[in-house]
Amino acid sequence: MNGGGMIDFEIHRNPQPVTATEREALLVNPGFGRVFTDHMATIRYVEGKGWYDARIEPRAPIPMDPATAVLHYAQEIFEGLKAYRRADGQLGLFRADANARRFVESAKRMAMAPLPEELFLDSIRQLVDVDRDWTPSSPEASLYLRPFQIASEVFLGVRPAREYLYVLIASPVGPYFSGGLKPVTLWVSDEYTRAAPGGTGAAKCGGNYAAGLAAQAQAMELGCDQVVYLDAVHRRFIDELGGMNIFFVGRDGNLVTPELNGSILPGITRSSIMTLARAQGRDVSERPVSIEEWREGARSGEIVETFACGTAAVLTPIGVVKSAEGEFTLGDGGTGPVTEGLRQSLVDIQYGRAPDNYGWTTVI
Ligand code: PLP
Ligand code: COI
Repeated sequence: MNGGGMIDFEIHRNPQPVTATEREALLVNPGFGRVFTDHMATIRYVEGKGWYDARIEPRAPIPMDPATAVLHYAQEIFEGLKAYRRADGQLGLFRADANARRFVESAKRMAMAPLPEELFLDSIRQLVDVDRDWTPSSPEASLYLRPFQIASEVFLGVRPAREYLYVLIASPVGPYFSGGLKPVTLWVSDEYTRAAPGGTGAAKCGGNYAAGLAAQAQAMELGCDQVVYLDAVHRRFIDELGGMNIFFVGRDGNLVTPELNGSILPGITRSSIMTLARAQGRDVSERPVSIEEWREGARSGEIVETFACGTAAVLTPIGVVKSAEGEFTLGDGGTGPVTEGLRQSLVDIQYGRAPDNYGWTTVI
């Protein structure tokens, strides 16, 4: 069936799954993005027919003709979300509907056929169900889900492809940063920008990340964990990090985050933190924050904490910021109480330890 209509997944179970003993060993300390489950979901699209051939099948390489469009012009989008093991053993998804919507928005920006949201959600539910034993139960661990869509047409002309392949893989993960929940150090890139007005900054497309790798490599060479980008026009206002949004905490306990200016990713964690902070009685504003305001605020004590947030990074405190103009420290360089309190409220909902007043979680 095509278009917005639902199609059923054919389930082809892996005849040679990883043994339970091996799996348990892999789940002890999975790191981030290195261990994968036994299955994947795939769905195909061809213009005129729509989405078809939905499958859950053994995880395997994807054979590709060397002239496949994605390999040349990077027509690709992805998402990132997690399934969390709850105390009763059940699994919870967090705001998967928001990922489904953002996937559609990213597809439109990249001139790709949008995958109907229900089909996206169905693929997630089916794969998590088949591979549920791969969800770790240790604290801070989860099953990271990576849906992506590529232009699969074999064609070298530059125009939107007429064929697409959607794939969903799953990876048991621990904390994104190897130091766990320790504060990270950022490098303010003065050489590179991430996204310009009219560009693809608000889409979750692979090309944004490819373009950021030189900046990330530079940050790491300079002893930093992540790069933070300034806006492409004024080279003054904080956009976001390579893979996370950013929040500033004022002396009064209120929060500021850069507004969605079309050049930053509309993070689902960002939106959740805004809701949770307001529920704690904090004021949250979305507005431009310049590097000078941040630096001066850190020095004067006007800004007491800064944290990064995203699905992979959860809430990660920022300790030190380095730039060509020197470095500054947020607070005492440790994890501040506002960051810690918001992180706790968020993960308590994600792991089902606190009531979900917002309808964010779905139990599978
Ligand atoms: N910004 C970028 C560039 C990202 O890659 C991510 C991660 O997905 C985020 C922000 C945070 O988004 P979310 O909270 O939806 O994971
Ligand atoms: C995520 O948080 O899901 C991302 O895609 C960001 C990346 C740094 C792993």
